[in-house]
Formats: sequence, C-alpha cells, structure tokens
Amino acid sequence: MASDKGIDKPWAGRFTEATDAFVEAFTASVGFDKRLYKHDIIGSVAHARMLTHVGVLTADECQMIVNGLQEIERDIERGAFEWRVSLEDVHMNIEARLTERIGIAGKKLHTGRSRNDQVATDIRLYLRDEIDAITVELTRLQNALLDLAGREADTLMPGFTHLQVAQPVTFGHHMMAWFEMLARDAARLADCRKRVNIMPLGAAALAGTSYPLDRVYTAQLLGFDAPAENSLDAVSDRDFAIEFTAAAALLMTHLSRFSEELILWSSTQFSFVDLPDRFCTGSSIMPQKKNPDVPELVRGKTGRVTGNLIALLTLMKAQPLAYNKDNQEDKEPLFDTVDTVRGSLKVYADMMPALRVKRDNMARAARSGFSTATDLADYLVRRGLAFRDAHEVVGKAVRYGVDAGKDLAEMTLEELRQFSSVIERDVFDVLTLEGSVAARDHLGGTAPAQVRAAIQRARQRIK
Ligand code: ARG
Repeated sequence: MASDKGIDKPWAGRFTEATDAFVEAFTASVGFDKRLYKHDIIGSVAHARMLTHVGVLTADECQMIVNGLQEIERDIERGAFEWRVSLEDVHMNIEARLTERIGIAGKKLHTGRSRNDQVATDIRLYLRDEIDAITVELTRLQNALLDLAGREADTLMPGFTHLQVAQPVTFGHHMMAWFEMLARDAARLADCRKRVNIMPLGAAALAGTSYPLDRVYTAQLLGFDAPAENSLDAVSDRDFAIEFTAAAALLMTHLSRFSEELILWSSTQFSFVDLPDRFCTGSSIMPQKKNPDVPELVRGKTGRVTGNLIALLTLMKAQPLAYNKDNQEDKEPLFDTVDTVRGSLKVYADMMPALRVKRDNMARAARSGFSTATDLADYLVRRGLAFRDAHEVVGKAVRYGVDAGKDLAEMTLEELRQFSSVIERDVFDVLTLEGSVAARDHLGGTAPAQVRAAIQRARQRIK
C-alpha cells in the first residue's frame, strides 16, 4: 500500500510525511488486539456476504475474499503470519495481507465499513464467546459444590459471625451459601450477554453509510440478536464491557471470600480441610510448609479485576460522541479480566472435588465456643421464660462455663439448674450439635434435611 510519498498506510492520500517511528509504536494496538483475529475474520466474512447479498460485491469477489480470509486464519494459527506494527492493529494487518493475496477484491472488503464499527463488533463477538466459556467453568464449579454439599449435608461445623463461633451449621449448608453467590454471578453474566449480543456493524465510522446495507442479514449471519439502533452509540459506548467487568469483579470478590475461608480452614489452627497437594506449594526453607497458593492467588487476582473495572469506567467517563482513540485502551483490561476470571474458575472447579474435609476437627470446634447457647435460650423460652430473660440466664451459664472450662453440654444437670430451675434432663437434647442443626428445619435453614432439599432444587436450577 505504499503511496507515491513512500507512506505505507491506508490513509497515505491525506498525508505528506510518514508517521514518527515512536508514535507508530505508541499508537499501535496489534501487540494485544491480534487476539481478536478469529472474530475479526468471522465479522469480515459476514460483511462480505452481506455486501454480495445487496449487490455491492460480485459472487466471485466474495468467494475470493472468503477464501483469502480463511487462508490468513490458517496462517495465523500455524504461526506463519507476520504481524506488522506499522499496520497498527489486527484489522489493518489482516486487510493488508488480504489485498496482497487477492488484489483489488481485497480492497473492496472495507466498503460500507469503518474500523470503528469493525472493532466494536469484534469485541462483542469475542466477549460473547468468552462469557459462554466462563459460564461453562462456573457451572462446573457449581456442580462440584453441589456434590460436596451432598456428601457433607450432615457434617457439623461451627458457623461464625465476627469470626467467633456463633451457632452450629452443617458444612453442606456452608457450601450451599457459596453455590447461591455463584448462581447470582451466573445470572448476571447471562443478563449481560443479552446486551453484548447486539451488532454495531453498519454504523461505519459514526453516521452509517450510503451503501444499501442489510444489517439484519449480517446480524443473522453472526448470531447477533439485533443490529444496534443508533450508529453513534454503536461505535462509541463500551458499557457492555464495563458491565461484564463489573459482573466479573463481583464474581472474583466471591471467589476471594471463598479463598479466604479455605486459607483459614487449611491452617494448623483451624485444620478443617486439607487442600490436595497438587494445588499447593512448599517452602524453600521451611520443610514442614504446605502453602495454599491457589486460593491466595485467586484472592490476590481479585484486585486486578476490580482495577480493570475502575480503568474502564474512567476510560469512558469523559468521552464525547462518537468514537475516540481512547477506546483502544478498552482491550487490555477486558482481556485481563477474561483471563483472570476464566483461570480462577477453572482452578477452583478442578480443586473443589479433591478437597478433604476433616469432619472430626470441625465437630470438635463446634462443640467448643458455646455454639448451642442460643438453643438453650430457645429451650427456656419453650419453658415459659421471656427471650430476654432466657438470654440473661444463658449468659450467666456461659460465664460460669468460661471460668470452669466447660462447654454447656459438658455441665451436669445440677450445674445448669443453678441458673434456672425450669431446666430438666431433656435439655441435653438441645445442647447437642445434631439437635441444634436439626431444629433449624425450615426453608433456608441448616437442618440436613433442608440442605438436601436445597441441593435438589439447585440441581434443577442449573440443569
Ligand atoms: N485499534 C482501534 C481500536 O482498538 C481500532 C479502531 C480505530 N479507529 C480509528 N478511527 N482510529 O479502537
């Protein structure tokens, strides 16, 4: 494409001097947007077919373009494509190579199109595929949690508030809490996908084009739900990428909290779970160490996704209509978000089925820390005390237990009756962990029967 002035650019006609060497490198995006090559080619093939459909290209020209693009795709895939920074981005690299290959027909591909609607289309096609791939990993992790919750529906553990032992729960119930968070993440992604799946192509640079394009036809070829309604909006807004990144940041925040629990639970102090060796690393100096690197890294990587969200919001906030080069900066945060979320979900989905649950340690921890104190208060209420009075009575019993080094269930009936004479031998039924969880037998409660029912409903939901 060299002009008579020796300028090797598609816009050479307007220019009198070549681009400054540093500016060329500074403004280029091919180093990262070449990742979009597949979607760029899919979009170009559909555009060429539509141009042929409306009579702008001949069938022969279309065939040459489609064949040429397919050869380029094969070259890229076998590493035989030479990406040129001088051609700035993935779009111009592919188009220039096409023209080198097939001549004049290649120069016609860009009829009725601009890189502005082209890049917006590419990102949407790319993101649609990635949302689908992320959803596959997410579902895999949800299934792993359902299996784990099913195996551990009766497993007793302390539930915490303020990281202090609060009331007994089952480990299955705890896992189902994580399932619910991920279910909302999946719903957010599915909802976001609807707004991603709208086609900018045909908006051209900003105002549309004078060619008789059939945008509905192109949208159908590309599997878009509809063409974008407004050309200015279509080339300029990146709200779909921001929305995706926001959903991803929430998802990562959930995984980060989950990670924090796995890190705590795998410590010697808790010793509730054992992470499989293949998901851990050792220390180069301390031979005894087995570090929970995977959850730690996921917790750490959450920061970059939150950062990417802020970067994209800031990128957008002061842009006037329509397209501005600022938008070239949308790609790296978006790609990084996709990689981070997809990788984090994959490693979690692989790791969770192999988690070893130390049931005895969990039950032992639940038996200390007066986790059935609320159950004793509820017992007193059933015996006629007002709840606030019952709370006071149990508080005194706990105070005594702290001094005597005894949990409530370890006290004799006589010891307990010092605090209230309504207490009878049947109190020990409610002071057990099993009795405590079984009593929370309503929708959303921790009773094993409820957890099993919740798992069953959840399996239907993700089918
Ligand atoms: N590489 C550009 C981007 O990522 C493609 C669109 C360029 N458009 C333009 N008018 N310079 O946004």
